[in-house]
Amino acid sequence: MAKNVGILAIDIYFPPACVQQEALETHDGASKGKYTIGLGQDCMSFCTEVEDVISMSLTVVTSLLEKYEIDPKLVGRLEVGSETVIDKSKSIKTFLMQIFEKYGNTDIEGVDSTNACYGGTAALFNCVNWVESNSWDGRYGLVVCTDSAVYAEGPARPTGGAAAIAMLIGPDAPISFESKLRGSHMSHVYDFYKPNLASEYPVVDGKLSQTCYLMAVDSCYKNFCHKYEKFEGKQFSLSDAEYFVFHSPYNKLVQKSFARLVFNDFLMNSSSVDEVAKEKLGPFATLSGDESYQSRDLEKASQQVAKPLYDQKVQPTTLIPKQVGNMYTASLYAAFASLIHNKNSTLAGKRVILFSYGSGLTATMFSLQLRDSQHPFSLSNIARVMDVDGKLKSRHEVMIYKNLIKYGNVPHVLFWFNIKLNVAMPKT
Ligand SMILES: CC(C)(COP(=O)(O)OP(=O)(O)OC[C@H]1O[C@@H](n2cnc3c(N)ncnc32)[C@H](O)[C@@H]1OP(=O)(O)O)[C@@H](O)C(=O)NCCC(=O)NCCS
Repeated sequence: MAKNVGILAIDIYFPPACVQQEALETHDGASKGKYTIGLGQDCMSFCTEVEDVISMSLTVVTSLLEKYEIDPKLVGRLEVGSETVIDKSKSIKTFLMQIFEKYGNTDIEGVDSTNACYGGTAALFNCVNWVESNSWDGRYGLVVCTDSAVYAEGPARPTGGAAAIAMLIGPDAPISFESKLRGSHMSHVYDFYKPNLASEYPVVDGKLSQTCYLMAVDSCYKNFCHKYEKFEGKQFSLSDAEYFVFHSPYNKLVQKSFARLVFNDFLMNSSSVDEVAKEKLGPFATLSGDESYQSRDLEKASQQVAKPLYDQKVQPTTLIPKQVGNMYTASLYAAFASLIHNKNSTLAGKRVILFSYGSGLTATMFSLQLRDSQHPFSLSNIARVMDVDGKLKSRHEVMIYKNLIKYGNVPHVLFWFNIKLNVAMPKT
C-alpha cells in the first residue's frame, strides 16, 4: 500500500480583475467598515466576460503540469470539485481532457463532485482514497477546485470571488493525510442553494448559513476529537495542531469558527485553557447548544479569548481568502495555499487541521502532516511556484464610478464597463 499519500504539488489561479471592498462599500451605500471590518474582507477578484470556471481550470492545470514538469501521460485520475453549473450533464473534467488527449492519454478516471463549497474536498478524498486503494495503477491523481461566486444585489454580494486551484496527488507527499483522523457532519438544510437553473445566483439565507456553519464546526470537532482519542489513545486539544485552516466565505466567519473551537476545548477539558479564559467563558458553560449560537455575549467573549491563538494558528491562512473573496470549492485550499505561501519549509514536522463546509449541508474536519520532500515537491518549491505575491500584485484594480450607476444597477455590467475604461489606465 502507498505510504504518506497526499498533496505533492499545488498551483492557484485567480482572475486579474478585482475591486477593493472599501470601494464596494461606497458603491453599495453600505456604512464605512461594514465589508472590511464587519465581514473582514479586503478585496474581491471576479471573472470578466473573457473567463469562466473552465478557462480558469484549463489555465491552472496547464500551469501545474508545466511548472512541476509532470508528463501528462502520468496522470491516471482527474477529479473536479465545483458548484458553478456550466452544463447540467457534461462535466468540467471532460473539458480538461483537452490537455491530456493531445498527449495520447485518455485513460483517466474521475468526474465532477458537487455540493456547494464541499465538492473540492469530496474530489480530494476520492483521489487520495484511489492512491491508497487496490485500484491504484501507480500514476498521479489530480484534483481541481474551480468556482466563480456571484450573488444577486444585496448583503451577500460583497462575499463573491473566483479562483481555480489544482493539486497533484501521490505517495511520499510533503502534505500527507492522516486518513483515520476525519470528523464529518452531514444534514438536510436549505441555507444556500441554487434552485433556479436559469440563474447563476444562489438563494442564500445568510444568517441561517452562518449558524449551520458554526454548528458543523462544533459537530465535526467533536467527531474529530473522538476519532483522535480512539486512534491516538489521548485527548485532542488545539495545542495538538500548529495551524487551523477554514473554508472562508468571509473572514469574520473564520474568526467566529476558531473562537468556537476554543469554547469547545473549554467545555471538553477546562484544564486545556488558561485562567483568564476559564473566567471569561465560565458564565456560558451551561448554555444549551441553540442558546450558545444566539448568544452575542458568548461570541464576543470567545473571540476575545481566542484572539492570541487566532493570530498564531489561523491568521497565516487568511491572505488569499481576504484578498480574493469566497472561491467556493477553492476557498479552503486557497487558505491552505496562503499558509504554505507564508510559512513554506517551516511547516515541516507540523500538523495542520482543515475544516471544509458546503451548504446544504456537508462538512468534514481532517488532519494533514507536513514534511520536507525532494524537489520539485518541496514545501518551499510549492510556495515559489504558486507565486502568490506576484499574482496579487499583478491584478488590475477596477474602479467603480458612482456616476455610472444611473446607467444600470448590475455591478457585473458596471465592472465590465469599468474594466474597459481601466485597461488603458490600470491603477498601479
Ligand atoms: C454574511 C452576511 C449574512 C452578512 O449580511 P448582513 O445582513 O450585511 O449582516 P450584518 O448587518 O449582520 O453585518 C455583518 C457584520 O458586519 C458588522 N458591521 C456592520 N456595519 C459595520 C461597520 N460599519 N463597521 C464595522 N462592522 C460593521 C456587523 O456588526 C456584523 O458583524 P457580526 O457578524 O460580528 O455581528 C451576508 O454577507 C451573506 O449572506 N453572505 C453569504 C453567506 C454565505 O456565503 N453562505 C454560504 C457559505 S457558508
